[in-house]
Amino acid sequence: MDRHIREFLNRLSYATITIATLILIVLFLQTPETCVPHGSPAKPHLRFPRSSCDSSPRELLTIEKKNKRLWSTKSWRNKVESYITFFKEFQDLGLLHNHSKVLCVSVGAGHEVMGLSQMGVGDVTGTEMVDSPPLVSRADPHNLPFFDHVFDLAFTAHFAEALFPSRFVSEMERTVRPGGVCVLIVEECGDEEVREIAGLFGRSRFVSAMNVTLTGLRMTRIIMKTKIST
Ligand SMILES: *[C@@H]1O[C@H](CO)[C@@H](O)[C@H](O)[C@H]1NC(C)=O
Ligand SMILES: *[C@@H]1O[C@H](CO)[C@@H](O)[C@H](O)[C@H]1NC(C)=O
Repeated sequence: MDRHIREFLNRLSYATITIATLILIVLFLQTPETCVPHGSPAKPHLRFPRSSCDSSPRELLTIEKKNKRLWSTKSWRNKVESYITFFKEFQDLGLLHNHSKVLCVSVGAGHEVMGLSQMGVGDVTGTEMVDSPPLVSRADPHNLPFFDHVFDLAFTAHFAEALFPSRFVSEMERTVRPGGVCVLIVEECGDEEVREIAGLFGRSRFVSAMNVTLTGLRMTRIIMKTKIST
C-alpha cells in the first residue's frame, strides 16, 4: 500500500514538472510583439534603464529652478509691482502693518503673496486649490483650514471665480479677527453689485468701494470691516 502511494506521488510530481516545463517553453516561444512599429523613431526616455541607478536622461526641473524662471519674467514682476502699489494704500489707511497677519485666498501663482512679503509684511499666507511652494499652500476657499479670528486682513482678487460666493465670503470672514478687514477685488462694477456683494457678509460692516487699477485691469475694491461685537 505504502509503495503504491509513493509511486503515485512520484508520478504526480513528474507530471507536474513536465507541465510546468511545457508552459515555460510555450511562454518563451510566444514573446509578444511590441506595439511599436519597426522603423519608428527611437524614444530615448522610454528605454529600459540599464541599471537601477541609471538616472542620466531625465531632465529634472526642481521647484527652485522653476520658480526662479517664473519669478524673473517681466509679467510676473509687473504684477508683483502692481500689488505692492495696491497694498501700499492699505498701509496709508492704517489697515496693514509689517506685523499684520494676512491671508490671501485663491492667489493663483501667488503674486500678491510675494508683493506683501517684499513690502515687509512678515506673516502672509496664500492659498489656492493647487499649491505652488513656497508662496502658495493648497486649501479649499470654501473650507479654509484655519482657526477663527487668526488674521488681521483677508484678501482675494479672485472672488469672481468662487463656486459658492456666500460660503467663500463667510470663510474669509470667519478667519478674520473682530475689527479686522476683508478686502475683495472684483471686476469694475457699480453700487448695485457692490451692495449685493457686501450683503453676503454676515458679521461685517461696509467700509468703502472704489475703482482701482490692478495688474493693468480696471477693478473695484471693496473693503469690509468685521464687527467687534459678535
Ligand atoms: C516694514 O518692513 C520694510 C522691509 O523690511 C521696512 O523697509 C519698513 O521700514 C518696515 N516698516 C515699518 C513701519 O517698520
Ligand atoms: C466704477 O466705474 C464705473 C464706470 O466709470 C462706474 O459706473 C461705477 O459706479 C464705479 N464704481 C465705484 C464703486 O465707484
